[in-house]
Amino acid sequence: MSARITASVFTSHVPAIGVAIDRGKTGETYWQPLFAGFQPARAWIRENTPDAVILVYNDHANAFGLEMIPTFALGLAASYEPADEGWGPRPVPTVHGHPELAAHIAHSVIQQDFDLTLVNEMTVDHGLTVPLSIMFGQPQAWPCPVVPLAVNVVQYPVPSGRRCLQLGQAIRRAVESFDNDLDVQIWGTGGMSHQLQGPRAGLINQPWDKAFMDRLIADPADLAGMPHIDYVREAGSEGIELVMWLIARGAMSDCAEVADPAERADSAAPSVVHRLYHVPASNTAVGQLILEERP
Ligand code: DHB
Ligand code: FE
Repeated sequence: MSARITASVFTSHVPAIGVAIDRGKTGETYWQPLFAGFQPARAWIRENTPDAVILVYNDHANAFGLEMIPTFALGLAASYEPADEGWGPRPVPTVHGHPELAAHIAHSVIQQDFDLTLVNEMTVDHGLTVPLSIMFGQPQAWPCPVVPLAVNVVQYPVPSGRRCLQLGQAIRRAVESFDNDLDVQIWGTGGMSHQLQGPRAGLINQPWDKAFMDRLIADPADLAGMPHIDYVREAGSEGIELVMWLIARGAMSDCAEVADPAERADSAAPSVVHRLYHVPASNTAVGQLILEERP
């Protein structure tokens, strides 16, 4: 039996959320409503823990500097140690990879004409560990292996929404051709609107964020045509992180490309299991969304 994508999870990665968890502050007045909002997602993932997560995220100049700027970098390692700027490495478990699945994705996606960078050794920062903490809390060990896919959204030029959606489609084909009985989730992380510096620092655009979620759910192909300058103008300079959500969305069955749409056996839009929008967390609007494939 082949592997399959069962669900996609979308979540912000605000580093202060990680610090609130690590330092026992989640019950404080500022954080309590946000963590209450995360509870349905945590309950869902306890019941739906996958065999592996493909975690689409961005590094913040921790693993990669300006020496090399890979647009799409896939992790093939057996393990990844946490690292971070600012507050320093988080006291969270080592992230274990899935080298066999990752190597298969590398082979399949590169043969589908995506020139991935392959990474055999790297650290992972809050972009990857905060989503794990938001979903899984504080376990002794992360409950499943993770295949990291680091996307450059820090140093221009960044990839387009269309390219991200297409990469998600290619990843779906890769997973479905992996001859191994695995339930795989794909997570798209980062966002929502935030701008961390300059005269517009603190920018949060709630109507735009909510419309982004609506469009991501209902019409991802249309959303993928939005140019990057719109993200930056409307959602702030770091709002461009949201383009990564299109990779996870593109991996859902209703985005799969088929020669004849009538042949599309599994084209139903995914079901929305959970949706959260909360302001503020640090300088950022927090969004969370879970989409599940219909049986
Ligand atoms: C913040 C948000 C981010 O996405 C990030 O990478 C760093 C800081 C913030 O809101 O403070
Ligand atoms: Fe970030």
